[in-house]
Amino acid sequence: MRFKYTISLVFIVALVIIEKENNIISRVSDKLTRRQIPRIPEPSNFSRLALLKQHGSYASLSKLDSEFKHLKRRLDNYTKKMDNLQRGKKHIILMASTRTGSSFVGQFFNQQGKNMFYLYEPLWHVDTMLMLKTGQTNQSALAKAHRDVLQELLLCDFTLLESFIQPHPKNHITTTLFRRESSKSLCEKPVCSPFVKQVVERYPCNTRLCGPLNLTLASKSCHQKEYRAIKTVRVRQLGNLRPLVENPSLDVKFIQLVRDPRAVLASRMVAFSAKYKNWKKWAVNTGVSLHDVELKKLKANCDEIRASAELGLKQPDWLQRRYMLVRYEDIARYPMQKAAEMYGFTGIPFTPQVKQWILKNTQASKEARGVYSTQKNSAEHVEKWRFSIPFKLAKIVQQVCGSAMKLFGYRFVNNETMLTDKSISLIEEKNFK
Ligand SMILES: *[C@@H]1O[C@H](CO)[C@@H](O)[C@H](O)[C@H]1NC(C)=O
Ligand SMILES: *[C@@H]1O[C@H](CO)[C@@H](O)[C@H](O)[C@H]1NC(C)=O
Ligand SMILES: *[C@@H]1O[C@H](CO)[C@@H](O)[C@H](O)[C@H]1NC(C)=O
Ligand SMILES: *[C@@H]1O[C@H](CO)[C@@H](O)[C@H](O)[C@H]1NC(C)=O
Ligand SMILES: *[C@@H]1O[C@H](CO)[C@@H](O)[C@H](O)[C@H]1NC(C)=O
Repeated sequence: MRFKYTISLVFIVALVIIEKENNIISRVSDKLTRRQIPRIPEPSNFSRLALLKQHGSYASLSKLDSEFKHLKRRLDNYTKKMDNLQRGKKHIILMASTRTGSSFVGQFFNQQGKNMFYLYEPLWHVDTMLMLKTGQTNQSALAKAHRDVLQELLLCDFTLLESFIQPHPKNHITTTLFRRESSKSLCEKPVCSPFVKQVVERYPCNTRLCGPLNLTLASKSCHQKEYRAIKTVRVRQLGNLRPLVENPSLDVKFIQLVRDPRAVLASRMVAFSAKYKNWKKWAVNTGVSLHDVELKKLKANCDEIRASAELGLKQPDWLQRRYMLVRYEDIARYPMQKAAEMYGFTGIPFTPQVKQWILKNTQASKEARGVYSTQKNSAEHVEKWRFSIPFKLAKIVQQVCGSAMKLFGYRFVNNETMLTDKSISLIEEKNFK
């Protein structure tokens, strides 16, 4: 009699909790449809509880208790997620690989305004330290460190990152944060102190004038901002970042930036000439063979990019409305339109500051050539690589990276004539939705 009474009581409480959870979910869902923010996971399956209700016994009481605790934890998670959504916090990971224009696209977010906390390539420290320590790369250790550091940074916690910074920060003060000057948020008051009038127009700050970086201050400043974005060329698998989506304190979205692998290789051969010296020798000489290792590396790189994109485009439940694929070629040709689309996707306001920055940096001026090409010349600029590589290089990339190229809509060339024929565009118009 007494047990039965207890069981009913527990059930009433459990049902109240279920009801409360459902209310929260539907309230959040309403908001979601209104504001177009991502869907929250399905409510839980309560059929085990229903079973217990029918066959309630002393033995099942402890089971019930654990179910109850589980429910409570879920409720806490949803409450947290809801609070987070209501506060409008948003988290962006811009993932790319080297020479795909990610610094340029990162600026779209860096320039957003006072409410944005942007970090440029913080995982540089992780890779540098782990490679130094072990002499070689342990991919699974690296992937885990990447994921955990990104997760903490999006929550404004620099602790784990600090453990990778060398020399190790004392009292959370460092002078060696990689490319600090690329983050506006680390270069303005009060994080930059003493604050000195900005001298260099092109960079948001001059680290020498800012003095050492106080990471406690950086974290404080981060907490005060609604939007947080991190650009990285070091994440190899989008799937590796799933725990970030599942973290109830985060509302994270991914933008994957890709570029024609033939152009990427051409650009890397110039930018990283020592690392790519075998490629260069092979490209300009006949009778020199290319080592298998080089081809394997290229293939691994293309395969990783393709696998992440395939996962993202497939939109599994956990990635619903959280993934966007962008081609560098489209950004170079239609920067304003693409920026607007990216901002639309993130739900972050596309501010006049960003628009101005884009206008300024995509207009012709002597120092702003290169990546920052004009809108008028950009179509031409974007395909400039076609005149800097021999056909055999294009051909081998097509063989190794063919499936990625097909997925992203980059046209193959059959011969030298086609490679350098400007009247043929190698970029298919493609809408990734
Ligand atoms: C709910 O749980 C039952 C029993 O464990 C299972 O058979 C059923 O497929 C589940 N339903 C869902 C939607 O997960
Ligand atoms: C690589 O890292 C993983 C995860 O930290 C670890 O379990 C494994 O032992 C490491 N492998 C090697 C070869 O060091
Ligand atoms: C760094 O900032 C924190 C928080 O404002 C402050 O308490 C601390 O004294 C600062 N450290 C230094 C060395 O200025
Ligand atoms: C609640 O969130 C934490 C942190 O992400 C997670 O580890 C845990 O599994 C979640 N609990 C439930 C019951 O969903
Ligand atoms: C090059 O390829 C194009 C497209 O397939 C073809 O039309 C053209 O005849 C080829 N030119 C030469 C010189 O083989």
